[in-house]
Amino acid sequence: MSTSTALPESHPRPSLLPLLVLGQGRDLASERGVECPGDLPPASDPDLVARARAAKAALGDRVFVLGHHYQRDEVIEFADVTGDSFKLAQQAAARPDAPWIVFCGVHFMAESADVLTSPDQTVILPDLAAGCSMADMAAISQVEDAWDDLVDAGIADRVIPVTYMNSSAAIKGFTGRHGGTICTSSNAKTALQWAFDETGGVEAGGKVLFLPDQHLGRNTAVRDLGLSPDDCVVFDPHKPHGGLTPEQLRDARMILWRGHCSVHGRFTTEAVEAARREIPGVRVIVHPECQYEVCELADEIGSTEAIIKTIAAAPDGTSWVVGTELNLVGRLRSMFPAQKIAFLEKNVCYCSTMNRIDLPHLVWVLESLVDGRVVNPIVVDPDVARWARVALEQMLALPGGTSKD
Ligand code: 13P
Ligand code: SF4
Repeated sequence: MSTSTALPESHPRPSLLPLLVLGQGRDLASERGVECPGDLPPASDPDLVARARAAKAALGDRVFVLGHHYQRDEVIEFADVTGDSFKLAQQAAARPDAPWIVFCGVHFMAESADVLTSPDQTVILPDLAAGCSMADMAAISQVEDAWDDLVDAGIADRVIPVTYMNSSAAIKGFTGRHGGTICTSSNAKTALQWAFDETGGVEAGGKVLFLPDQHLGRNTAVRDLGLSPDDCVVFDPHKPHGGLTPEQLRDARMILWRGHCSVHGRFTTEAVEAARREIPGVRVIVHPECQYEVCELADEIGSTEAIIKTIAAAPDGTSWVVGTELNLVGRLRSMFPAQKIAFLEKNVCYCSTMNRIDLPHLVWVLESLVDGRVVNPIVVDPDVARWARVALEQMLALPGGTSKD
């Protein structure tokens, strides 16, 4: 007799992600490590900037510091390159001479850099608790179960996975094994077009499984590729069979994973309408992780890099409200003093995990390297890395990407 009790079909699947206090313990089922051992300098140390400068100078070309646009100013100051996740992946792959890559961003970015760099290079994440709640919304066991549902519905051979960079290496590995590609917010349109071509085309019944950000998937499919919102279904991993019937799966063109960004998902249509009422002639620019309804009301949509370029190219004196992470919006104000730049929504706060990388953590990793100690290395399991590399290199080989080969 079986000792396990089967859940009734209607019962939601239990979450496989244990709850951990940030900074304590290690959650091996999640994309992030959450343990930061280390003797950090106090944030009040007045010499932190001088210490970071001295350590970086002592390390010279042996260290390459990458900084995502959502990082704090105090960290960006020490970045050799700043960028969105696509540019940083390209840059990590293009620096084979630097033995140490310090990634000031979040865990999935550091994992991707580890996959794209040589075995002689070590990628370091200054705080292992810098994860991403969106990436944690797709666990590999959930995604494997979802694929079984697609097989059972008889459609798996017509489905190509397209996975947002904001995902664990395990999900990227799944994507590589199933012939798919990674995308970022800079190249999601190109990646989706490629994927539909691979399936023989939308008209021929081709489908994309888009992981894990439903908003980026929907925005790209509907706004850029001209699909209808009705062509999209949302697969909820907490419901049996994603909460979808086999007919719904067969009829869909885009199967969107039920994930979202806990920062961008909070921007509202009301905030866009209020900005238009209060600021004459305002231009609204938002990141494609925002909800579809918000993007529909915006004037421009773009990745972090595209937002910067768009504002840089605008005539002086243009009024902007910007719907993306607050560190970047604050920096845009100092980068472009001739523009009038406001944050779209007062109730949206910083990305808490991006903000975990601060100057004390950066000083700690740099000084440790000077002392010959590598702390917080990010090492992706070789079997996972092999297939994740296939999916990442597929992305870099798309038009506009830069493959290492
Ligand atoms: P991009 O870097 O692709 O603009 O993505 C934003 C983001 O949310 C990264 O976590
Ligand atoms: Fe993740 Fe959103 Fe933070 Fe980016 S901004 S790291 S998607 S939670």
